[in-house]
Amino acid sequence: MSKSSRSKPKEVGSKQLPIYQHKTKLTQAVKDSTFLVVTGETGSGKTTQLPQYLYEAGFCKDGRIGITQPRRVAAITVAQRVAQEMQCTVGREVGYQVRFDDCTSEDTVVKYMTDGCLLREILADPGLSQYSVVILDEVHERSLNTDILLGLLKKIFSDPAKASKRRHFPVKVVVMSATLETDKLSAFLDNCPVFAIPGRTFPVTCTFGTAVGPKDLESTGYVREVVKVALDIHTSERAGDILVFLTGQSEIERACDLLYEKAETIDYQYDVQDQTVDGILILPLYGSMPTDQQRQIFQPPPPGIRKCVVATNIAATSLTINGIKYIVDSGFVKQLNHNSRVGMDVLEVVPISKSEAQQRAGRAGRTSAGKCFRIYTKEFWEKCMPEYTIPEIQRTSLTAVVLTLKCLGVHDVIRFPYLDCPEERFILEALKQLYQFDAIDRSGKVTQLGELMVEFPLHPGLTRALLKAASLGCQDLLLPVAAMLSVENIFIRPGHPEKQKEADKKHKALAAKTGSMNDFATLLSVFQLCKSSDRPSAWCKDNWIHWRALKSAFSVENQLQEILLRLQQKKDFPVETFSGNKSELFRQCLCTGYFTNVARRSVGKVFCTMDGHGSMVHIHPSSSLFDQETELNWVIFHDVLVTSRVYIRTVCPIRYEWVKDLLPKLHEVDVYELSSVAREEVTDEEMIKWEMKEAAKRQPEVSAEDVM
Ligand code: CDP
Ligand code: MG
Repeated sequence: MSKSSRSKPKEVGSKQLPIYQHKTKLTQAVKDSTFLVVTGETGSGKTTQLPQYLYEAGFCKDGRIGITQPRRVAAITVAQRVAQEMQCTVGREVGYQVRFDDCTSEDTVVKYMTDGCLLREILADPGLSQYSVVILDEVHERSLNTDILLGLLKKIFSDPAKASKRRHFPVKVVVMSATLETDKLSAFLDNCPVFAIPGRTFPVTCTFGTAVGPKDLESTGYVREVVKVALDIHTSERAGDILVFLTGQSEIERACDLLYEKAETIDYQYDVQDQTVDGILILPLYGSMPTDQQRQIFQPPPPGIRKCVVATNIAATSLTINGIKYIVDSGFVKQLNHNSRVGMDVLEVVPISKSEAQQRAGRAGRTSAGKCFRIYTKEFWEKCMPEYTIPEIQRTSLTAVVLTLKCLGVHDVIRFPYLDCPEERFILEALKQLYQFDAIDRSGKVTQLGELMVEFPLHPGLTRALLKAASLGCQDLLLPVAAMLSVENIFIRPGHPEKQKEADKKHKALAAKTGSMNDFATLLSVFQLCKSSDRPSAWCKDNWIHWRALKSAFSVENQLQEILLRLQQKKDFPVETFSGNKSELFRQCLCTGYFTNVARRSVGKVFCTMDGHGSMVHIHPSSSLFDQETELNWVIFHDVLVTSRVYIRTVCPIRYEWVKDLLPKLHEVDVYELSSVAREEVTDEEMIKWEMKEAAKRQPEVSAEDVM
C-alpha cells in the first residue's frame, strides 16, 4: 500500500461494512438498556466496529470497553486491526489480553481479551468496576467460559437496584452472536432488545463429494482429498480465493506441504482455465501461529495470484477473510470432548454439525456468489453430522469453572443460571475432582488450598502439584514443567522420514540425559538446558525443539512464579518439610496432582487406569517410556490421545507407596453427598452443625485403606 493512502484504510474499508449504516441507532440502543443482543452475518463489522462506535460516542469516559473472544488468536488479530484503524499502537488505546500475554496499559480503553481472562477479572473484581461496557462476542460458539460469563453477568447486572448499589454508573452488557438463537439469548437476559444488522449475502452453491462416507470416520485420508479439490478449483475455476477447512496445525502443515509440491508442477499456460490466474499463494491459519504470519492472511494477494488459505475452524466465524469465493470443507473439526470411555477430556477429531457446515459454506458468499465443495457424501451429511454443535458446557470437564464459581460465592452450582444446563453428572464429577484435589471440603466449601488454586490459569491437577512443590520449597522443579505443559508442543516433528529419524534421535538423547525415563523430567531438563545455553535459539535448532514455544515457556514460567510469590506472602501459605532424594521429591509432588491419572501395568504393554473406569491404555510412541522393557509397573500421565487405541502421553514412573494414600480418595466421596451440597445454599448455622457432626465422626480415626 502506498504511503499516501495510510490514513485512509479505515474510512474506505469500514464505511462499506453493513454495520456502518446503523451506527447511530446502535450506539443509542446500547445506551438505552442494560442488556442488548446484537446479531449480524459474520463479516458485517460487529467485532471491529462496534467498540469503535462506542468509543466515539464517549463510553470510555466512565471506564473501559471490554470485548471477549473465545479464541486467543482472534483477540490478538482483531486488536491489531482495530489499533490500525484507530491509528494507535497495540497496547496503548487499543490492547489485548490473553492467557499469559497481557498487551494493555493504563491508556487502554478498548480491550480485547479471551473469555477466560474476563472470568479471572471477575474473580478479582466482581463488579467489573473498570468497565463501562462489556461485550461478549461470538456467543454462538458457546464456549464454556462465555456461557459461564453470560450467567454471571446476568446475576450481577440483572437486578438494577443491586447493580446500581455497586456502581455509580451502570455497566452495559452487549452480547454479540452470528447466528440464530437470538430469541433464546434475549429471553435469558431479561427479554432485552435484539439489534439485528441486516446482512448482504450472495448464493453459495454446495456440492457433495465421494471421498468421505459414513465408514471413514476414523481415517485421515481427507487431507489428500482437500488438497486435490483445492488444486482442481485452482486449475478449473474462475479467479477468486480459496478457503480450506481442516482440523489442526499438523494437518494444515501437511496439506500446505502437499499443495506447494503439487502447485510447482502446474503449467499455467495449459493447465489453468482462467488465464488471468497465474499463481497461487498458500497460507496456513491456525491458533498457535506466529502473529506476523497471521497478518498476511488478511492482505489481498498480488494481482493474478490466487490466495488459498488452509485454516482451522477459526475462519468459520472468528476471523473474516475478504475475497473468498471457494470453500473446501473437510467436514471435520477438532473438539474437546469428555470421553466417558477414559473418563476425561480428550481432543478429538469429529464430524462438524450441519449448522457449522452451513456457516463454513457462507464464507464464500460475502461479496459475490460462491461455491462450496464438500468432500463428504450426502449420506455422511445425513447420517454422521448432528443438526447443531453441542455447547462446550455440555461436553467438557467443569472442574476449573466450578472452582471459579465457588470462589465467587456461587455455592449452588446446579441452579446457577445456565443458558443450557450441563448434565448434573458433569457438575458432580467436577465437585468430586475438586474434593480429590482438596480444593473443596465435603460440604462443598472452598478450602484455603482451593482459594490458592483458583489463582492459577492451569489445570487444577497441575496447580495442585505445583502448590505441593511450593510448600516443600522445590517450586523450581515444577514451575518449568507447568510452563512447558501450557505452551504448544515443543518437539519438532519433521515430515520428511530421514529428518524424522534425526529428530527422534535427538529427542531420545535429551530424555536419556535426565538419567531416568520420565517425560516430565525431560520437559524440565529441556527447559533448563535451553535457558542456560549461550545461544538458546541455536540450541533449539540443533535439538529439533521449537524455539518459539520455549520462549513462551520462559515467559509463562515467570508469570506463574509471580503469582506464586504473591500467594506465598500470605501468612497461611502451607509449608511442609521433606528429606530424601530430589528425583523422588519431584515425582511425589507430581503424584499429588496426577493421582487421578494413575495406571498400573496389566499385561505386556497394556496399562489399566485406576480411576474406576479401568480403561486399558498404551504408552504413546512419543514418550521416552515407549517400548521400555523395564520393571515399570505404576505410572502417572498428563493426558490421553484416543485413536484406534487409547494412548497416554507425558508419562512418569512412580512407586505405589506414593499414591497408596491418595488412591482411596478416588472412591471415598459419595457423589450423592456432593449432589446435596451442590444444590443447597449452606447457611453458617448449618455449617457449624455439620462441622460438629464431622468432628464426632472423626473419632476413632478411619484409615485410608478402610475406605477403599
Ligand atoms: O464481527 P464480524 O464478523 O461482524 O465482522 P468483523 O470481524 O468486525 O470484520 C469486519 C471486516 O474487517 C471484515 O471485512 C474483515 O475481513 C475485516 N478485517 C480485516 O481485514 N483484518 C482483520 N484483522 C480483522 C477484520
Ligand atoms: Mg466477529
